[in-house]
Amino acid sequence: MQLFNNVNAMHEWCREQKKQGKTIGLVPTMGYLHDGHMSLVKAARQDCDIVVVSIFVNPIQFGQGEDYETYPRELEKDSALLANEKTDAIFAPGVKEMYPAGYDAYVEVQGAITGKMCGASRPGHFKGVTTVVSKLFHICQPDRAYFGQKDAQQLLIIKKMVRDLNFPLEIVRMPIVRESDGLAMSSRNVYLNAEERQQALVLNQALKTAANNIRGGERDIKKIHQQIKDMIETQPLAQIDYIEISSGENLTDLEEMRGEILLALAVKFGKTRLIDNLLVEV
Ligand code: PAF
Repeated sequence: MQLFNNVNAMHEWCREQKKQGKTIGLVPTMGYLHDGHMSLVKAARQDCDIVVVSIFVNPIQFGQGEDYETYPRELEKDSALLANEKTDAIFAPGVKEMYPAGYDAYVEVQGAITGKMCGASRPGHFKGVTTVVSKLFHICQPDRAYFGQKDAQQLLIIKKMVRDLNFPLEIVRMPIVRESDGLAMSSRNVYLNAEERQQALVLNQALKTAANNIRGGERDIKKIHQQIKDMIETQPLAQIDYIEISSGENLTDLEEMRGEILLALAVKFGKTRLIDNLLVEV
């Protein structure tokens, strides 16, 4: 397994692989890898000749007062996990390598898809994500790039960017990986104390209850919204950021419960903001 810190060296190496006719699968991450990330790496390993995993805590997708400085970093442990899954290359550039002095170019998806949910609570976040992901696509030239459904809005925005800007690659969506008690895996779960972690189980439970009610015939969007809210509010440490019920295809507001429906939420427990979601087909 090779480790690259340098943009040009990574780019050249990927170009060489392509020249040899090999397909490249890219898994963009911010490191501190868990089984959710590893499911993306495994899928890339199955589908592609070459697997590249990027590890870069991208400063421009963090807002003021967010956890950029404290975001967990563990490159050595991550490298061992990736070597174990037969990753071909890790791309772990420094901040100055990705954003040298005088850096001025940004990629932004506009419209309703970025204006709501995490886009509303974290202004500038998705602009930071689409900018770094565009750079990674140009540097690594993947045939396929793998993203988790856990970040449902990020995934849809990246898909739209790829479509609108004609990036020549396929975005592969992988399902949410959960702990055995249902908590969605996230590098940020490490911030939770025992009480917060216990109470955070309500997120998956509320989503599952709502999905069951929809499957059972409930079609009143306001009622479902209220049920999720009531369930989460049984946990005293939960501070709801948003609960959204929208189209699973493009996040537009629903006129009626029909098609692929995304139940998504962001809730803070103490200082830790968690997101989770569930897709229901009606
Ligand atoms: O999902 C993440 O970890 C990040 O947003 C990503 C896609 C690696 C971009 O920094």
